[in-house]
Amino acid sequence: MSIQLSNYTIMRKFTLLFLLPLLTVGLSFSGFSQSSASITVSNGAKDTISRHIYGQFAEHLGRGIYGGFWVDPSLPVKKQDRIRLDVVNALKKIKIPNLRWPGGCFADEYHWRDGIGDRSQRPKMINTNWGGVVEDNSFGTHEFLELCQLLGCEPYVSGNVGSGTVQEMSNWVEYLNFDGESPLTNLRTKNGHPKPFNVHFWGVGNESWGCGGNMTAEHYSDEYRRYAVFAKDYNNAKLKKIACGPSDQDYNWMETCMKNIGSRNMWGISLHYYTLPTGNWNDKGPATGFGEKEYFNTISNTLRMDEFITKHSAIMDKYDPNKKVALVVDEWGVWTNVEPGTNPGFLFQQNSLRDALVAGTNLNIFNNHCDRVKMAALAQCINVLQALILTDKEKMLLTPTYYVFDMYKVHQDAQYLPIKLNTPDYEFDGKKLPAVNASASRDAAGKIHITLVNLDARNSVNVSTEFKGLQWNTVTGQVLTSASVADINTFEKPNTIINKRFTGARKNGDKLVVNLPSKSIVSLELN
Ligand code: AHR
Repeated sequence: MSIQLSNYTIMRKFTLLFLLPLLTVGLSFSGFSQSSASITVSNGAKDTISRHIYGQFAEHLGRGIYGGFWVDPSLPVKKQDRIRLDVVNALKKIKIPNLRWPGGCFADEYHWRDGIGDRSQRPKMINTNWGGVVEDNSFGTHEFLELCQLLGCEPYVSGNVGSGTVQEMSNWVEYLNFDGESPLTNLRTKNGHPKPFNVHFWGVGNESWGCGGNMTAEHYSDEYRRYAVFAKDYNNAKLKKIACGPSDQDYNWMETCMKNIGSRNMWGISLHYYTLPTGNWNDKGPATGFGEKEYFNTISNTLRMDEFITKHSAIMDKYDPNKKVALVVDEWGVWTNVEPGTNPGFLFQQNSLRDALVAGTNLNIFNNHCDRVKMAALAQCINVLQALILTDKEKMLLTPTYYVFDMYKVHQDAQYLPIKLNTPDYEFDGKKLPAVNASASRDAAGKIHITLVNLDARNSVNVSTEFKGLQWNTVTGQVLTSASVADINTFEKPNTIINKRFTGARKNGDKLVVNLPSKSIVSLELN
């Protein structure tokens, strides 16, 4: 069901079968290919788009936790304890389903006992990965779970494999989830929580091939098996254990883990893939003020997500043909150079319409792979990398990426509707990429939702959609766009890029006809 890649293949076939003959009789390729796309949406698929695809990530990194979620008691904003409530309310509006914590690289140097009990007595540590700053451990297990409760989302805890021990992880699970009496549950009670927290999503290490221990795939998969045995299931808290999977195209890592672990004691395996605008880790490119060349490269790099998911899924299919193991894309997003003048270890970057187009595209890719991709997490939620929210002391702004999650939340737990797509190319400087991507679903009330992205920075596309086995009468929609792909929301002008009512869709006979503006994301609801 790898729709995005097969769409691409279909598009190529379409070009060969139909467009080349037209070209030979003298019709303009660019005139046709720049303007029209066609989509077929069918009924009958059994897969659901898991709401957990819309997950978020909050690491002890820069101003993600401290100064993001968890603020100084003197900051003049509404708070519960030290948790900022304007941030919580904004995230509740887009229904974030899960939050991954405490890292990232930080997770493999985090010792959970340092973050419980009387805050004034908690030991301090150095955050060696992220700027070498002092971590005071004031935000720990109880604070994280209080945050998840306020957000109404499921916690996803990443356990320490790199510098922790099997016993430490085993104890943490018992502290969180055991509903009987033990020294650890007595400690939990003493710390104010007699009832178990019932955490389900459990990461066994993070990037164990790199910052999480620099292990080989063989070594990690053995370690996983050992750790997983002692991370126990308790009443009402069966763990969904997630192995550290590969980054990008490290197919050997996936092959080795699937071969050595398989579906035994593993709910999911992760994949990390970041979009670097330049593709170069040493100079990733700026988050603002870029031109079309940088934009085109960013999109081109983003589209590789489909290739990675398709190829990793094919390896997983060999060892897990019934698709019991989830592919969990728990770190994705645009990673640029930091904003000038900010701490390089804090990974603070602005967020433009380009980020929104990347988000819409990645989420369409995940939806179209929902038979295997059951969970994902944008990196990261606040003030770090491709954030949903930026804060500056008491000020807060919602980024263009936030609005994409708002427009796409309708897909959460909806029935997946397969699509076939013929798209024109977006051409720049002699290079091409597919201009349009899309995904569709039907919710419990029978409403059909289609999310469309037009990546072309200059040209609108007319999209004609046909439905097979699906009835509808009316269409409404929202659009997110702006004058330039480099436009951003600022604290002075926070509403430059915000989702607005869309009037460019109508019913024409049985077909849905949409005029998709250039560089836009459109979400349609069909009743
Ligand atoms: O998200 C920032 C970092 O990127 C994470 O800590 C790590 O897992 C990845 O390399």
